[in-house]
Amino acid sequence: MVLAPPRPAREVIWHDLECGAYRADLPLWRELAAAVQPGSPPASILEVGAGTGRVALDLARRGHRVTALDLQPALLGALGERAVASPLETVCADARIFALTRRDYAVCLAPMQTIQLLGGPTGRAAFLDRARAHLRPGGLLACAIVTELEVFDATAEEDGPLSETVRVEGTTYVSRAVRVSVDRCRIRIERERSVLAPKHGAQTADPLREHDIVELDRLTASGLLREGRDAGLSPDGTRSIPATEDHVGSVVVMLRA
Ligand SMILES: C[S@@+](CC[C@H](N)C(=O)[O-])C[C@H]1O[C@@H](n2cnc3c(N)ncnc32)[C@H](O)[C@@H]1O
Repeated sequence: MVLAPPRPAREVIWHDLECGAYRADLPLWRELAAAVQPGSPPASILEVGAGTGRVALDLARRGHRVTALDLQPALLGALGERAVASPLETVCADARIFALTRRDYAVCLAPMQTIQLLGGPTGRAAFLDRARAHLRPGGLLACAIVTELEVFDATAEEDGPLSETVRVEGTTYVSRAVRVSVDRCRIRIERERSVLAPKHGAQTADPLREHDIVELDRLTASGLLREGRDAGLSPDGTRSIPATEDHVGSVVVMLRA
């Protein structure tokens, strides 16, 4: 008997739906990984906040040795299953306190605003210290941040982005950003998520709904370069990732150990 693979955990489905299709940053991560001593053995890369592996898997499939670190075991479980035959290991740990045996990474990446999820300046300082401790001398830390988001409130008749939908084993998952608001310290992104079970006969169940909130710490590139310097890293400029139809652009802050 062939058993069907188990349905992915809910948080994996939402993560893939809300983050998985983003591609605009991949050329930059590939470029930074490939720039490490061309012609030498593939670079060792640490991705912090790797989620289900959108970036980590892309780099591992290009032959780089990748350590994918995240706080959420379910996301790393999915990543591990997708990494068959890739030079990739997963580590479940908090970006602010991790301690790995390897301390010779050539590149440490924090894509998609992960550094804005770490609990403000204190959390960022802890992470910057950990990143520096795990990079080899001259190694690169590159963090993608958003500095501004357009505010809107789709619950108040304003237009918002279109919803994203995926079907998994007959169940439909829909996610829609309904509000972005900004205060002095944070950018708050609210999404309505709904889950519609498969139809049984003539019966359609009411969708299950949940309200998801993500809060990003407000941060500027110059502020992060300064915090990096305070943590013993050397500022190495910024790069930019262009906006797409569906995603805002971001700035990538580069710091060297
Ligand atoms: C926006 S997602 C980015 C996922 C992936 N890097 C990508 O670009 O598709 C942010 C990730 O950071 C992780 N994260 C948040 N806080 C963390 C922490 N303190 N330590 C480690 N990971 C964390 C979340 O679990 C989530 O997977």
